[in-house]
Amino acid sequence: MNKHSVLIVGAGLAGLFLALKLAPRRCVVLSQAPVGQASASSWAQGGLAAALAPGDNAALHADDTVKAGAGLVDPAVARLIADEGPARVLDLIALGVPFDRTPDGALAQSLEAAHSRPRVVRVSGDLAGRAIMDALTSAARAAPHIEIIENKRARALLRDVNGRVCGVLCDGGETFEADEVVLATGGVGGLYAVTTNPVEAMGQGFAMAARIGALIADPEFVQFHPTAIDIGRDPAPLATEALRGEGAHIVNGAGDAFVSDLAARDVVARAIHIERQAGRGAFLDAREAMGAHFPDAFPTVFAACMSAGLDPRTAPIPIAPAAHYHMGGIATDVWGRTSIEGLWAVGECASTGAHGANRLASNSLLEAVVFAGRIAARLRDDAPQSPRAPEPTTAPPSLADQPRAELRKLMEAHAGVVRDGAGLGQALARVHALSEIHGQANALVASQLILSAAFARTESRGAHFRSDYPDDHAPHRTFIAAGRDVAAAS
Ligand code: SIN
Repeated sequence: MNKHSVLIVGAGLAGLFLALKLAPRRCVVLSQAPVGQASASSWAQGGLAAALAPGDNAALHADDTVKAGAGLVDPAVARLIADEGPARVLDLIALGVPFDRTPDGALAQSLEAAHSRPRVVRVSGDLAGRAIMDALTSAARAAPHIEIIENKRARALLRDVNGRVCGVLCDGGETFEADEVVLATGGVGGLYAVTTNPVEAMGQGFAMAARIGALIADPEFVQFHPTAIDIGRDPAPLATEALRGEGAHIVNGAGDAFVSDLAARDVVARAIHIERQAGRGAFLDAREAMGAHFPDAFPTVFAACMSAGLDPRTAPIPIAPAAHYHMGGIATDVWGRTSIEGLWAVGECASTGAHGANRLASNSLLEAVVFAGRIAARLRDDAPQSPRAPEPTTAPPSLADQPRAELRKLMEAHAGVVRDGAGLGQALARVHALSEIHGQANALVASQLILSAAFARTESRGAHFRSDYPDDHAPHRTFIAAGRDVAAAS
């Protein structure tokens, strides 16, 4: 048994930034892999949205966030992240993140879809995630108040006799107890056959919280990035939206444009899905926009293309939508508190109300650092709590390779860019059968939540498109606790 003050489960951007901000309060960060590996944050290409440019401001940024979210963004949360974003960017600069600069030394700002103006800070074109994670990892490894424990996968939350969360149970039955537990476990892309996320991202934290009855919000809203590079790799490499911001165009196999390049992400993803289904193919043509500058301007995208023998300076890039970001997750308040005492959630596994039905590009890193900062403030300033000893808990089974592969295909086919009631019902029945055969693995619990909420939402809104219900109704969020639909609020 290991007993700690604050236990942070997950070592991506949200987990490490929170750990750093907690100083001097001691904390332990549990990472399921060596830090920096199996972390979606490291792969982020676009950057971080923050209203830093002359002529921009938090109200304009919040307005774009609300519009992109298709009626389900909480405007107060949109404003909060927009207000606090610039200060968090300065924190990252102080930690050594070398954001790109203009020739006169100002922060360079790039344009991404559905932003009314350029406001995304990047690093060397498409290396923001890597550069931010490198800076945070070095700082966290050097910080005396942080202990990082690698290669530990949490499987279940521990609770005391009062129901307060007091630790986690890991693979092999090892337990880590703590006064406060923060889930920063990332998203659900690994539940899908085509994803830009690490395949390990199968909604573990989200399922662990749901199992103990934590309030879950909007699980049906999974964002599909329109321009994953279709070269048969798993996970699929991303061709950042910033390429379109720099003038690259989406075309079909005949070279014809079929969607506005910088329309909202859900609109572009659906158009590409339809074009591919119709056999016309979809490509990102950056030949004219980038030309010979491609390797310097977007080194990650260039390397991914070249690894498949495709030179994006001379050929269009084949693209497909891919599961990219979970807008839904563990419901939190504006301080990152969940509905269960002692449990906090931050980053992609949380649902704060910032993203609604469709996240605005580059708002995910922003939300992660803003909420990590807010949780750290509470955990530093609130009176320390001492939970009682944990009650006995058994770990859910892990899912073997074969059912896992089947689950990924099932989610891709029935809970993807375009859904319908018949397919969702069929997938739900199969997930139920898989749970009977293999036990209630976290990946099956997470899938069941996504599928059942998608089945219940008989409308189309943002990233959730139902071909049998193509119109929207009055906006409402989904809230589920202990497997039951508990509320529907606008
Ligand atoms: C991208 O670079 O296109 C992805 C950015 C994001 O998901 O916000």
